[in-house]
Amino acid sequence: MEPILMAGPWITEAERNTVSDMMLNGWNNYEYVERFEKEFALWHNRKYALMTPCCTHAIHLILLSLGIKEGDEVIVPECTWTATAAPVTYQKAIPVFADINHEDWCLNLDSVEKKITAKTRAIIAVDLFGNMPDMDGLTKLAEKHNLYLIEDAAEALGSKYKGIRAGKFGIAGVHSFHRTKTLTTGEGGMLLIDDDKVFERAKFLRDHGRSNTIPYYTLEATPKYMPTNLLASLGYAQFLRIEELIARKRALFHAYKEQLADIDDLTFNMETDEVFNGVWATSLIFGKSHNMTKPEAIKKLAELNIPSRPFFYPLSYLPAYKHYNSGSAETNGNAYDISNRGITLACSYGLTDEQITFICKGIRNILNK
Ligand SMILES: Cc1ncc(COP(=O)(O)O)c(C=O)c1O
Repeated sequence: MEPILMAGPWITEAERNTVSDMMLNGWNNYEYVERFEKEFALWHNRKYALMTPCCTHAIHLILLSLGIKEGDEVIVPECTWTATAAPVTYQKAIPVFADINHEDWCLNLDSVEKKITAKTRAIIAVDLFGNMPDMDGLTKLAEKHNLYLIEDAAEALGSKYKGIRAGKFGIAGVHSFHRTKTLTTGEGGMLLIDDDKVFERAKFLRDHGRSNTIPYYTLEATPKYMPTNLLASLGYAQFLRIEELIARKRALFHAYKEQLADIDDLTFNMETDEVFNGVWATSLIFGKSHNMTKPEAIKKLAELNIPSRPFFYPLSYLPAYKHYNSGSAETNGNAYDISNRGITLACSYGLTDEQITFICKGIRNILNK
């Protein structure tokens, strides 16, 4: 059996042909960027999309565009990838960590409300592992307190909440095309917006704060977050295969779930009547009855040549964020608890049936099941 890869894209002749066309014809225009942005926005029922060099930059760009500044507080989930919170710190604003739910691994509304202060300006909700938070509740809460709601849908391409696609919620949504993601450009991201003014501001900031009317005349010094036509050509070609890509991700998820279905007390990515999950990667929380921690599971699986990844650490626990004192095991108990019992399984498109069975046997082995 070939070594099991944690992640890997699904690239076909269609992508190779499109990238090759860009190589021959695409150096003096942004046609692939424009096409990709237009169709990606349409698919999400958003008015506008702006491609960025990565999703982290898309998050920073929207914070900049909304005027988030030094001393402002932005509520983010305690458990997410650092990229949700890091751009808040680029603005010298303060990331405030709210707890997540055991069931959906996403923001807990009560915890969010408790963390709102006079300095709070925005909430960034994360669709962790394709799960969806209580978007109705978050939307109401943001409205009640006059806060911006931003949706970090980096892990949720193809997910839906009550039939609405991930990326459509709040003032803006973001997606990631990192090399490990469902749709990839190696590195890449997209910012989705409906509001005309916010879009114009974000577009202006993305390209050096140039004047629209006077060439090479800059009005503001800004970070430059322009996309490339090369990466957009790959992204656009992948996007034309979006349904096929999501179907494969879901098939991998269902294969894992079915083979482990008889083991009690395991929680997988969520699927309910209200939530359709794009399942970028299958994650697994070992129930307490298994007495299995994250590091122990990763180590034991590695001994069987099975790669796995840790569930995200609580951000307030990490050296990067500890000093903000804006979350703890006491206030965010669910996040600390889940994080210590969770792992992510291999999600490469290249996984074979034999490899999935091998991984599931390994999980049975370490759980003595
Ligand atoms: C929840 C979340 N937010 C943001 C990002 C940032 O994406 P990128 O790596 O494209 O900057 C990622 C992914 O890596 C992510 O998982």
